[in-house]
Amino acid sequence: MARVDIPPFRMERPSDYAPIPKALKRRATKNLDLPAGPRSPLLTFRFQKDTPGFLRKTRDQFGDCASFFLGGQLFIGAFAPEMVHEVTVSKQHSFIKGVGFERMRKVLGTGLLTNEEPIHMRHRRLMQSPFHISKISSYAQTMLGLTRKHIEPWRDGEVVAIGPQMMSLTFDIVADILFGSDISEDTERVQRAMHIAIDRIERTMLPGLDRFDYAPIPYFRKFEKAANELHDVSSRIVDQRIRLNIKRDDLLGILIDATTPDGERLSAREISDETLTLILSGHETTANVLTWTFSYLSENPQYWAALAAEAEEVLTNVSAEDFALRLFSAPLTSAIFNEVLRLCPPVWVAPRRAIEDVTLGGVAIPKGAHVLVSQFVTQRDPRYFEEPDRFNPERWRGDFEKTLPRGAYFPFGAGSRKCLGDQFAILESRIIILEIARQMQLTTLREFPEAEPRATYRPKGSVPMRCLRK
Ligand code: HEM
Repeated sequence: MARVDIPPFRMERPSDYAPIPKALKRRATKNLDLPAGPRSPLLTFRFQKDTPGFLRKTRDQFGDCASFFLGGQLFIGAFAPEMVHEVTVSKQHSFIKGVGFERMRKVLGTGLLTNEEPIHMRHRRLMQSPFHISKISSYAQTMLGLTRKHIEPWRDGEVVAIGPQMMSLTFDIVADILFGSDISEDTERVQRAMHIAIDRIERTMLPGLDRFDYAPIPYFRKFEKAANELHDVSSRIVDQRIRLNIKRDDLLGILIDATTPDGERLSAREISDETLTLILSGHETTANVLTWTFSYLSENPQYWAALAAEAEEVLTNVSAEDFALRLFSAPLTSAIFNEVLRLCPPVWVAPRRAIEDVTLGGVAIPKGAHVLVSQFVTQRDPRYFEEPDRFNPERWRGDFEKTLPRGAYFPFGAGSRKCLGDQFAILESRIIILEIARQMQLTTLREFPEAEPRATYRPKGSVPMRCLRK
């Protein structure tokens, strides 16, 4: 397994990928029959100021499919469940990942999140087994142990910054399960670099912003430095494991040994890119949805007692084998989590680029168009979710989810680009929600947090809450 050491930041787009089609400028679309959409001169400003709000208003005003121009390039918003299903599943091969992902590749290299075909499917097949439900269950005890260790110092009456606390807890969980102790001395460095990388990746929805990434401006220089640091740490850990033939049963060990039926394996460099991908995709999303969950619970305190009772049932007097099984069937936690993922989906938009002419819900979409499907918009559609802005976990009772059309609820995406870590995230979140509810109640000190939607849909500020221990 040779180590190729051009850091991802300076790496060319792999030649195996489909070429990125030329952007469609306004002039080139004059003779096309585009769906209607907003054309205001202030559109870029409105889009940047509140992108989810802008997309939702666009749907309300122009319907399920709308066109608009950003940075002079054609964008299509595709909001009907049927169109979401086409983009993510039935016509997924007509699209590659869109705005933002090229920039993400500078940090993550050819990891699963940013990879395109044919490399993506090869990696996905190799990486599926450690994320299989049977394997994920074996991580449950580690998740619970780390949660207990993390919340143990929270004193009765103390004010805790829930946002950063959830961020460091979910980081510790994914880093421990991935690397075990190998990363302990680099944890702070990785967390700091990850923070800078996430911050810079997040300013991505406008096309063309990435041309500044190599500019001699400290803000952008820090981006490259952080990306290189992450690459250094993870490739060093992977190299060491391989060179010294260290065998461990953590996720990294599994990735190193992963083999397809015809004997294919991941190279050291690919494993290093994949571990960074898993750390980045595996902690920020979960931390945000947990912070939103505690914000909703603190506004709806009637759920705490029932959650604590569910926690006693699920987390105590249970054998290691039954532990994950019980967690996967905790009905109240599941309903609350589904509802928070509906209202505040951490991944709230999936940008794509059409690599050929295609139709969505019968509407012609030209090659080169940016296409946006949005969890935030579709999951608040009143045709499928009554009183869409109300937090109402009860709607998930019974078989409500089965009555929804395909594409109406997709917090983890769908198709071959569906989240690899969905079961990991569900298990981890349920453990954290239940263990906190078992030990305490959290009450907010401020108004319900405002959203600060970037690459993820995150709550603004540190979300301080008072901890009331039992
Ligand atoms: C609540 C938490 C999470 C949410 C809501 C979430 C959501 C998503 C979504 C929507 C996608 C697809 C993006 C697209 O279509 O453009 C995705 C992809 C991905 N997620 Fe997650 N995710 C979560 C947690 C995790 C965790 C914990 C891990 C790993 C430990 C993870 C690993 C990945 C990977 C590797 C991909 C890329 C899959 C591929 O393209 O083959 N995610 N996630």
